[in-house]
Amino acid sequence: MRNLTLLLVFALAVTLIGACDSSPNNDTDPDPAPPDSTGQQNPDPTTLRGWADSAGVNIGTAVADNPLRTEDQYAEVLTREFNQVTPENVMKWNTIHPSRDSYNFGPGDTLVDTAEANDMDVHGHTLVWHSQNPSWLEDNSWSEDTLKTIMEDHIRTVVNHYGDRVQEWDVVNEAIGDGGSRRPTIWQNTIGDEYIAEAFRIADDANPDATLYYNDYGITGLNNKSDGVYDLVRNLVEQEVPIDAVGLQAHLSTDGGAPSLEELSENIQRFNELGLEVGITELDVAIPIGDGEPTDEQLQTQADIYERMLTACMEADDCSNFTMWGFTDRHSWIPNFSDGEDGAALIFDESYDYKPAYNALIRVLN
Ligand code: XIL
Repeated sequence: MRNLTLLLVFALAVTLIGACDSSPNNDTDPDPAPPDSTGQQNPDPTTLRGWADSAGVNIGTAVADNPLRTEDQYAEVLTREFNQVTPENVMKWNTIHPSRDSYNFGPGDTLVDTAEANDMDVHGHTLVWHSQNPSWLEDNSWSEDTLKTIMEDHIRTVVNHYGDRVQEWDVVNEAIGDGGSRRPTIWQNTIGDEYIAEAFRIADDANPDATLYYNDYGITGLNNKSDGVYDLVRNLVEQEVPIDAVGLQAHLSTDGGAPSLEELSENIQRFNELGLEVGITELDVAIPIGDGEPTDEQLQTQADIYERMLTACMEADDCSNFTMWGFTDRHSWIPNFSDGEDGAALIFDESYDYKPAYNALIRVLN
């Protein structure tokens, strides 16, 4: 009976919402939401996170430190729309480990506090990488033993600091080059192949409950690089190294290169068959706009790619994390990264209005 009343109230609400246009941007307003399969109204059906919670998936975003601290609207949309966060920069070595003997947890703590206060999960990023390292680390010729000690100290200190407040970690990021073999980095060149297995063992020892990721770009489709990553993680699994998941970064473009649904699904499946979870960890879809605005057609192509990526994740046996590399075109790394050639890569525009890609994600979720 209570269900019936709720259903009637809900049907009336949907009719009223349909009748009056209170949306600031009706063209791109998300579809009105039906009740979930139990007949209950979703707690907050007009948000991504409402639908994601109902569907049991984590919808995350990278979070930039500066707007989180200075722009109210950034934090409002972040906490309204997402149930998971990844620090865009503040847990990288150059921020969190500025000298060999000091750690700087302040900015990471701010994000983790925000996540905790808003019931969001945290995907830690990243423990071992070749980029955004401080010069004290990169500009020294360490012996193998010393660098191992430094890596171990870093992983233990950072993972222990956050404990169970960070549920997932990118343990090793971007260790494979485009051709599919090991990228020559300070870790590879000094410690050798073993550094990856070692990093996972240390992270697992520091927090056995965390989901531990190998994360890389250019591996959403089937190609030399994703084959190289497949070989790497299969080898780790065979050696019983405690790796749990593979992160497909997914920095894509409307200008070609995005995988087909079939190719992506096949790729996710082969990792799942190794017993590994897959996460889409850094999705953005750049549009070649220079200083201009995207056309409707470009926005539609972009929406189709977002839709395809989420569809593949939802259809997969084990893909429980779908994270975008930011949410508003106001704060995206793409214009910088592409020297101003590309932009408009995310699901909200620069004024925090919904883009077609947002609606496409809502459609997939319900
Ligand atoms: C990017 C950040 O978004 C930028 O702000 C920063 O200047 C460079 O790094 N792969 C990763 C991310 O794993 O850490 C990168 O983030 C994007 C590519």
